[in-house]
Amino acid sequence: MTSKVHLPYFDHLLELLKDQNQTAIAAFGRHVHWGYWEDPSSADGSIPDFANAAEQLSRRVCDAAKITDGLKILDCGCGFGGTIASLNERFSNLEMVGVNIDERQLERARSQVHPLNQNSISFVCADACNLPFEDNSFDVVLAVECIFHFPSRETFFKEARRVLKPGGYLAICDFVPLKFSLPFTHLIGKFLTTSVHNTYGTIKSNFSLSTYRQLAQKTGFITRIEEDITRNTLPTYPLVRKLFRENGAAETEKITAGAELVSKLGITRYLILSFEAIDP
Ligand SMILES: C[S@@+](CC[C@H](N)C(=O)[O-])C[C@H]1O[C@@H](n2cnc3c(N)ncnc32)[C@H](O)[C@@H]1O
Repeated sequence: MTSKVHLPYFDHLLELLKDQNQTAIAAFGRHVHWGYWEDPSSADGSIPDFANAAEQLSRRVCDAAKITDGLKILDCGCGFGGTIASLNERFSNLEMVGVNIDERQLERARSQVHPLNQNSISFVCADACNLPFEDNSFDVVLAVECIFHFPSRETFFKEARRVLKPGGYLAICDFVPLKFSLPFTHLIGKFLTTSVHNTYGTIKSNFSLSTYRQLAQKTGFITRIEEDITRNTLPTYPLVRKLFRENGAAETEKITAGAELVSKLGITRYLILSFEAIDP
């Protein structure tokens, strides 16, 4: 089955996984996102260290959503189900649904992630901006490092608010440019549009923190957590660039180096954000 979205890095990754590439399995077989190192100087550049850091990032986003046993959780843009797998191992009596626009990824998720601890798990192919779920039906909505791919952050927030119960949490992580740098990042983006399209697919990195705050207010949320973890994610870049280089993905390596530069310069920050749904 082909993907409805244009995600060349996933096309490449799925090929590597199909070929049983052990490095790809260890690095991205569960989570497909950046790592979080509490102490970035401790990063040793190894794949197991990166996989552990990716697990830590997932846990931090879940912590921002105040997840406890017994909740009903929707993970939007769920990749291979890594965040659901992590929750499945750590909590009990959860009802978890993973949503992804790419059925190929869901096939892997279904084959890898099986319920433990009286949890229930299902994976549904859908667009995060058009969720096939009833109003007020979830306690938590997650979007781990994927909102930049969605057709619209505004529509996604409205959908998340619609399916959340009052008092429920939306937690995300995203690459967030500083407001003053938006004209600059817009200009650079114009030059790099084709390269980004050819590597990471459709990405929108135009949402500053103040725009997030306004969106949250407009769509029925109170912002609860704004955590800047940029420095904790930086060891991701050399490792991921090396993996792309070794797999002949020179253009992806170049774009990743650009993302590393704007992160190191503080022009784009990696934020964990959480929002509480309030009564309309
Ligand atoms: C960087 S990956 C993150 C995957 C997963 N959240 C993780 O952390 O391992 C981005 C994910 O967003 C998914 N995605 C992109 N556009 C989407 C959409 N409109 N609706 C649902 N999922 C989408 C992709 O298929 C991919 O799984």
